[in-house]
Amino acid sequence: MEPTLAYGLPAAFILYLIYKRVTKITLDDIRGPEAETFWLGNLGQLFRSLVGEADFAWQDKFGGVARIKGPVGQDILWVCDPRAMQFIMNGAYKFPKTSERVALGTLSTDRGLVTAQDDCHKRQRKAMLPAFGTPESKALFPIFVRNAEAITTRWRDQLFDSPEGKMFNIPTWVSCATLDAIGEAAFDHTFGAIDNQTSDFVKSYQSLLIKSFASPTDGRIIMQNLSRYLPVNFVIWLYDHLPLYKLLRKNREVAHKFGKEILASKDAALAKGADSHDLLAIIVRSNMSENERSKLTDYEVLSQIRTILLAGHETTSTALSWGLLELAKNPAIQSKLRAEIHAMDNTIKAHGRSSFTVEDLDKMPYTQACLKEVLRFHPPVYHLHRAVGQDTAIPLSKPVTTKSGTEINEVPVAKGTSIVLSIAAYNRDKSVWGEDAHVFNPERWLNQSEKKDISVGIFSNLATFAGGPRACIGWRFAVYEIQAFMIELVSNFEFNLTEDCKLIRREPVFIMAPTVEGQVGKGAQMPLKVTLAQRGE
Ligand code: HEM
Ligand SMILES: *[C@@H]1O[C@H](CO)[C@@H](O)[C@H](O)[C@H]1NC(C)=O
Ligand SMILES: *[C@@H]1O[C@H](CO)[C@@H](O)[C@H](O)[C@H]1NC(C)=O
Ligand SMILES: *[C@@H]1O[C@H](CO)[C@@H](O)[C@H](O)[C@H]1NC(C)=O
Ligand SMILES: *[C@@H]1O[C@H](CO)[C@@H](O)[C@H](O)[C@H]1NC(C)=O
Repeated sequence: MEPTLAYGLPAAFILYLIYKRVTKITLDDIRGPEAETFWLGNLGQLFRSLVGEADFAWQDKFGGVARIKGPVGQDILWVCDPRAMQFIMNGAYKFPKTSERVALGTLSTDRGLVTAQDDCHKRQRKAMLPAFGTPESKALFPIFVRNAEAITTRWRDQLFDSPEGKMFNIPTWVSCATLDAIGEAAFDHTFGAIDNQTSDFVKSYQSLLIKSFASPTDGRIIMQNLSRYLPVNFVIWLYDHLPLYKLLRKNREVAHKFGKEILASKDAALAKGADSHDLLAIIVRSNMSENERSKLTDYEVLSQIRTILLAGHETTSTALSWGLLELAKNPAIQSKLRAEIHAMDNTIKAHGRSSFTVEDLDKMPYTQACLKEVLRFHPPVYHLHRAVGQDTAIPLSKPVTTKSGTEINEVPVAKGTSIVLSIAAYNRDKSVWGEDAHVFNPERWLNQSEKKDISVGIFSNLATFAGGPRACIGWRFAVYEIQAFMIELVSNFEFNLTEDCKLIRREPVFIMAPTVEGQVGKGAQMPLKVTLAQRGE
């Protein structure tokens, strides 16, 4: 057991008892799974089994909400109901992030946009937004295409004398290429990760989250979880000193060194009047023009650099890896996608152009459908964790029956209650997506109208990028990046399953990382067989 339990547990337990006594609103009547153990509640299921396994079972059994158990009998509201998701995401500051989430976030992204709360978040978000608009994101498309082409060149070389194909570990390649892409797009900097995976910087980012968070022990789940009852600065201090998080601290060192250097060179360049369009240049320029009260401090800008590095590269590379797996599993979908890409490629060449532009994407409905289906089926971020800021009632899209047999249309919740929003379950909700919600089927996006009764999330009614004032700020960036990579790779290569694909795990490490059963220590793995694609007419 972690030494911190000595502080955390008794403190938490006493607070919990007091809380139980004073609050009149309880989740006692909401149906939900039995706790697996008193110490862990249901959290073992959420933090150790495959992403979605527990969620899909609870969704089937209890519907849009369930009462699940945290450590020492703590009640947690688990939610996937569309109306409730919308209410909580749009309510943003009324449902703050809990202190242990902020502490874990601080360890991996410092005090940037992901961990800021309330007015501080509002101010940071305002300073960051100009860098993430539609024109800014569109302007980055050629960078994504170029970094995707870097994979093609290297795979073609390796396949030159193996026409029968070769096994490639997809996440290794894609995560290096997306790290290079974020380097260029966000900082106008060349990491060269695709050619040099041995630099300290690149190594520190490889499978960072898997190595830091996969297969947590009981003690660690309880500690991480109960630390929410401790003051946030104490928890941040604690995480700074536990041996457990050594890799994240090492990452912080490496990222801060990079951040300080890049910031200095950016300041110098802008002072000389350089006309740069990378995210950081836009943020620094926006900081200059802001009025005194809304400026970012130097530490906050350093935090944004680390935030963008992590939030902007693991997520997209994870989505791409799962996407390619689905294409390997579904050869008909893969061929149809490739046919659309090749047809557009021919049109582009006929017009005397050499590569895809953002405007071409609008004329590729099947590519768009595949993108959306990948993001629906395999949301890289599968849960959001929030707390209730003030006593309130959370509305539901359809009534649920409580243990005592009453039908309710809203769930009363007391201040302080933890909430888990299940992005994974909402994205498979049959009332939203139809009876085949658990089938990977891009056609659904072509046949059905995208308009839903209740709009959830900022992109295509998916919860994948969350919604409201705390929605993913980089969603346009991500959508263009994933498409650039999908088009480039599917155009040039054919993907087939390997034996090891049967052993792939949806590893819950805050993002849904692909690992191979029994080899979690090896980090992200998705071994696919790759051959050169034939160009049909
Ligand atoms: C497929 C790719 C991506 C997915 C699925 C994704 C998903 C999400 C989700 C669900 C959130 C909300 C987290 C929470 O509230 O706890 C979020 C927030 C965020 N994302 Fe993304 N993201 C992706 C790509 C990116 C990229 C490319 C960037 C930056 C270049 C980025 C930067 C951020 C930032 C800064 C936040 C915090 C926003 C705030 O709280 O105001 N993300 N993302
Ligand atoms: C790769 O990075 C390491 C560490 O930064 C450096 O020593 C080495 O020279 C680099 N190799 C190449 C081929 O660039
Ligand atoms: C503790 O458990 C609940 C439910 O999963 C969650 O809302 C909270 O964020 C958890 N904390 C940590 C650090 O895992
Ligand atoms: C933002 O502006 C403030 C106030 O002028 C300044 O102290 C700070 O260094 C600036 N930050 C960056 C990264 O430019
Ligand atoms: C890959 O799968 C497709 C479709 O199932 C099949 O036609 C093709 O022969 C396979 N290629 C290799 C190299 O295994």
